[in-house]
Amino acid sequence: MFARSAARILAAPSTRFFSASAVNQTKVAVLGAGGGIGQPLSLLLKNDPLVTSLSLYDIRGAPGVAADVSHVDTGSEVKGYAADQLDQALEGVKVVVIPAGVPRKMTRDDLFNTNASIVRDLAAAVGRVSPDAHILVISNPVNSTVPIVAGTLEKAGVFNPRHLFGVTTLDVVRAARFLGEVAGVSPSEARVTVVGGHSGPTIVPLLSQNQHGKSVTGEVYNKLVHRIQYGGDEVVKAKDGAGSATLSMAYAGAKFANALLRGLNGEKGVVTPTFVKSPLFADQGIDFFASNVELGPDGVEKIHPLGELSAEEQKLLEACLPELKKNIEKGKAFVA
Ligand code: NAD
Ligand code: LMR
Repeated sequence: MFARSAARILAAPSTRFFSASAVNQTKVAVLGAGGGIGQPLSLLLKNDPLVTSLSLYDIRGAPGVAADVSHVDTGSEVKGYAADQLDQALEGVKVVVIPAGVPRKMTRDDLFNTNASIVRDLAAAVGRVSPDAHILVISNPVNSTVPIVAGTLEKAGVFNPRHLFGVTTLDVVRAARFLGEVAGVSPSEARVTVVGGHSGPTIVPLLSQNQHGKSVTGEVYNKLVHRIQYGGDEVVKAKDGAGSATLSMAYAGAKFANALLRGLNGEKGVVTPTFVKSPLFADQGIDFFASNVELGPDGVEKIHPLGELSAEEQKLLEACLPELKKNIEKGKAFVA
């Protein structure tokens, strides 16, 4: 009972953050559990009734985080794993969430050199130990780290495109929050589909598809789009050298993980934007793209088309595609 009511409080104001309706429960691993995102994310996952077992791994600090989180009085068991215990941490997991890596000081692309090899090595371990797991990539730059995970799993002969997700939920969370502020409504009425990728111009909010968003025009529209695209910068600046978004990201990561778990458990109609291997722009050489995706018992169930776009959104999409293509190619080249 506690888990359910606590989950409802956490869920406010969005609907159905943590649903406890399904019977199947799941072992979830967090790789990078000792970090700024990893710690609150582990706490939120401990509070998700759909998680049976939590496996917390980091190159430093995960056993301590696990001991701490394990005292929370929800049903799941929690175990922490030290740097040399990655394979043990991955045994039997159905979902792996990866927030491992460094946060940025300047642009997300600056992180590439450090995070590319971290993500590649973690993906290789997942491919070796739990090749059927669903992998949720948080580590930046997401536009490149997701192709790196795909390429690594492809090399190992175990890539399943239905099981790989770049977590772009923070953009969706921000869009609802910021549109809600502009329109003077609750974020729950200001849901916005955000497509493309996860950095600056590759983030394309489809405001025209929301009844409040379509009335926002002119300078207010331009400012709102800019704030959604560069929301990460706001946090980086405010933290003044101490990192990037961690708490809102943990919230977004737990929200996406819960949506996936509901889909895996057979709930119908779970649809949310996420960055996946996608046919939508594959004819332009862009084979990963974030759009609304229906989540089902085997991960990606259906990739939805973008729907109708306004003239402004067409322009945003035109700016997104070449940048996204470069980012994806950079990730692919790293694995090749
Ligand atoms: P952080 O430095 O606080 O934590 C990162 C953790 O990763 C650390 O605990 C570190 O020990 C661990 N780590 C490093 N190498 C590892 C490895 N090989 N195996 C396991 N763990 C390892 O950073 P943070 O603020 O938590 O951010 C983590 C990443 O998430 C960054 O790349 C950041 O840019 C990204 N991020 C993504 C989004 C998004 O929307 N997708 C949002 C915010 C941050
Ligand atoms: C964000 O959007 O907040 C994250 O991608 C972190 C960052 O580097 O801005």
